[in-house]
Amino acid sequence: MPVPVVTHKITEDRQSLLIQKPTSGLYVASAIRVPGDKSISHRALMLGALATGETQIQGLLLGEDPRSTAECFRALGAEISELNTELVWVRGIGLGQLLEPNDILNAGNSGTTMRLMLGILASHPGRFFTVTGDSSLRSRPMSRVVKPLQQMGATIWGRKANSLAPLAIQGQQLKPITYNSPIASAQVKSCILLAGLMTEGETTVTEPALSRDHSERMLKAFGAEVIVDSQTNSATIVGPAKLQGQSVIVPGDISSAAFWLVAGAIVPDSELLIENVGVNPTRTGILEALGMMGADIKLENERIVAGEPVADLRVRHSKLKACQIGGEIIPRLIDEIPILAVAAVFAEGTTVIRDAAELRVKESDRIAVMANQLNRMGAKITELPDGLEITGGTPLTGTDVDSHTDHRIAMSLAIAALNADGTTTVNGAEAAAISYPDFTTTLQQICGQD
Ligand code: S3P
Repeated sequence: MPVPVVTHKITEDRQSLLIQKPTSGLYVASAIRVPGDKSISHRALMLGALATGETQIQGLLLGEDPRSTAECFRALGAEISELNTELVWVRGIGLGQLLEPNDILNAGNSGTTMRLMLGILASHPGRFFTVTGDSSLRSRPMSRVVKPLQQMGATIWGRKANSLAPLAIQGQQLKPITYNSPIASAQVKSCILLAGLMTEGETTVTEPALSRDHSERMLKAFGAEVIVDSQTNSATIVGPAKLQGQSVIVPGDISSAAFWLVAGAIVPDSELLIENVGVNPTRTGILEALGMMGADIKLENERIVAGEPVADLRVRHSKLKACQIGGEIIPRLIDEIPILAVAAVFAEGTTVIRDAAELRVKESDRIAVMANQLNRMGAKITELPDGLEITGGTPLTGTDVDSHTDHRIAMSLAIAALNADGTTTVNGAEAAAISYPDFTTTLQQICGQD
C-alpha cells in the first residue's frame, strides 16, 4: 500500500491537513471540475431575490459564502429553494419590495454579501436593517461603500465613524451620483450600481482599473439598462430599473481552478485538465501571470455559456521563471495572489508583486500571512507595503503552517506542501469550505488517492 499523500485530522471544529510530497506527478484519469464561481453565485441569488418571477440557477457554489447570501435574502422575504448544484430556484420578491427582517442579517465571512447587500438595503425606503458578520468581516473596511452611499443620501450607522460592522441602515429614497472610486473594486462598483437600481436617474461608477464585470453582465441579462464605457472604466445604471427572473448557468470558478493550475505547474511530471472554468477577461490575470512565468497552460473548448466565456484548462509541469506583476492586472488576479506567490517560490529569480495593498484588508492580511507562512517552510519572501518580493528556487521543507482562517491561504499552503520535502501540516484547513468545500477530495484524487 502506498503511503497516502494527504491525510486529515479533526479537533473540535478545526481541521488539519497533513501533506507529504508525492512521489509521482499529479494526474486524474478524467478531469477536475471546480465548484461554481463565487462572485456569480452571489449575484445570481441577489438579483433573483430582487427580480419579478422565478430565477433558476445551475451550478451554484455550495460554499459557506453563498449560503450566507441565501440566508440573508430569505430573511428579507425571497423564497430560495434548498441550495444544490443541479438547480436552485429563487422566487423574487420584486424590486423595492424587500421586507424588514425581525433579526440581524449575518453575512458570515463574506465581504461580497455585506458590501453588495448594503447598496440594496440603503435604497429600500422606510425599512430598518442591521447587518453583521464574523470577526474577520467585522474588521474589514466598510467606509469604501458607506461613503458613496451616504453621498446618495443613505443613512448608515456603525462602529469607528460608520466604517465597521455591525451596521444599522435606515432605508431611504436615494439620489443618483457619479462616483470616482479611488480603488478598483467590484464590490464597491456593484454596491453602488445595485443602489442605483431603485434610484431615479443615472448612477455612474468610474474605477481606476477595470474590476470583474459580473454585475454589469448579469444586471443587463435581468433586463436593467447598464451602460459600460471601457475607455473610462465606468458603468452606469439607469433607474428605476425592472428586473425579470432569468436562468443562470454558473461557470466553474477560475479562483478555485488556480490552485490546480499552480499544482500542475510546480510538481514534476504532472498533467491536469480542469473542465468548465469561467474565463471572463476581468478574471484571467492569473493565466497571463503564469504564462509570463513560463507555465504550460492551454485553453481548450472555448465557448460562451449564459453570457460568460468558459473554457477547459490543461496544465503540464514546466520550469518556471520569475516575473514582475503590478498595475492594471492586479484587480484581474487579486484573489489569486496567494497561490501566485506559491508559484513564485518555485520560480527561478525574484518575482515582485506591487500595487496590491488591497490584500491587506481581505479575509486576512494576505501579504503578511503568505510571507510568514511560506517563510516558515524555507521560502525567501520580503513583505512590501503593497505586495511581496519573492526570491524563488530555494527548496521548501514541510512544517506546521496556519491558514489564519482564510480559505485562500489554507488552499495555497496545501499546494505549496505538494512540493515541500517531508510532511506539512496545514492547520485551519476547514476554512477552504468558504469557497471550495470539496478541496481536500480533489487534492487526494490528483495525488492518486481515490
Ligand atoms: C469580489 C470582488 C473582489 C474579490 C472578492 C469577490 C466580488 O473584492 O476580492 O473575492 O464578487 O465582487 P474587492 O471588490 O474588494 O476587490
